[in-house]
Amino acid sequence: MSIWHQRWDENRIGFHRLEANPTLTDHWSKLSLDSDAKVLVPLCGKSLDMHWLKQLGHTVVGIELVEKAITQFFDDASALALQESKQTGTKYSAENIHLYHADFFKVQPDEMPVEAWYDRAALVALPSTMRQAYVEQLLNLTTKDSKGLMVTFDYPQEEMQGPPFALPDSEVESLFSQHFTVERVQWTDVLEQEQRDLTRCSLSVFVLNRR
Ligand SMILES: C[S@@+](CC[C@H](N)C(=O)[O-])C[C@H]1O[C@@H](n2cnc3c(N)ncnc32)[C@H](O)[C@@H]1O
Repeated sequence: MSIWHQRWDENRIGFHRLEANPTLTDHWSKLSLDSDAKVLVPLCGKSLDMHWLKQLGHTVVGIELVEKAITQFFDDASALALQESKQTGTKYSAENIHLYHADFFKVQPDEMPVEAWYDRAALVALPSTMRQAYVEQLLNLTTKDSKGLMVTFDYPQEEMQGPPFALPDSEVESLFSQHFTVERVQWTDVLEQEQRDLTRCSLSVFVLNRR
């Protein structure tokens, strides 16, 4: 059983928020997308951000390893999702939200390529050895002129075991700059609000335009 299955089983999902994330609502308009653009949400959990994106008119394509997260997402919204068996897992759909119960690194959503993506607690949920593969899979699933909004987290890695793993802004630049323009649109010291035993902790938000 993966650590993520264990976490969902034991309801250890402190990352889950009970409303749309302010980093999303504050910065999403900077992507200047058409309202009908398809948005990929990698490692989506049962994030309410997906309802917020759908309400803007987007088609939402979420990928999540743990089925319980997906069933809870639709149950919490009292939505009946249609299930379809796919090569890499099961696709759950209700209105314009399509959630794939699958491994992000293997999935081939019907909706690809998508025009946009939103990463909150996705890349930082993965160990550093998987970061390059994450960027490559993002490139596979998105259009050549896609845009992304990404929220990251940084702290001295030796002071805490991830996830979330520390991801310095300089590493975001080196991972993405070959294929994207990288603009940091927010940096916030979150040491006090995180209430973890760390000497520093910050959150960054990036707008990434593929070129
Ligand atoms: C830290 S949570 C963030 C969830 C969501 N983005 C949010 O903001 O609430 C990371 C999620 O990624 C899922 N996950 C981990 N590895 C995955 C993989 N390889 N493919 C798809 N989902 C994965 C976990 O089950 C977990 O729900």
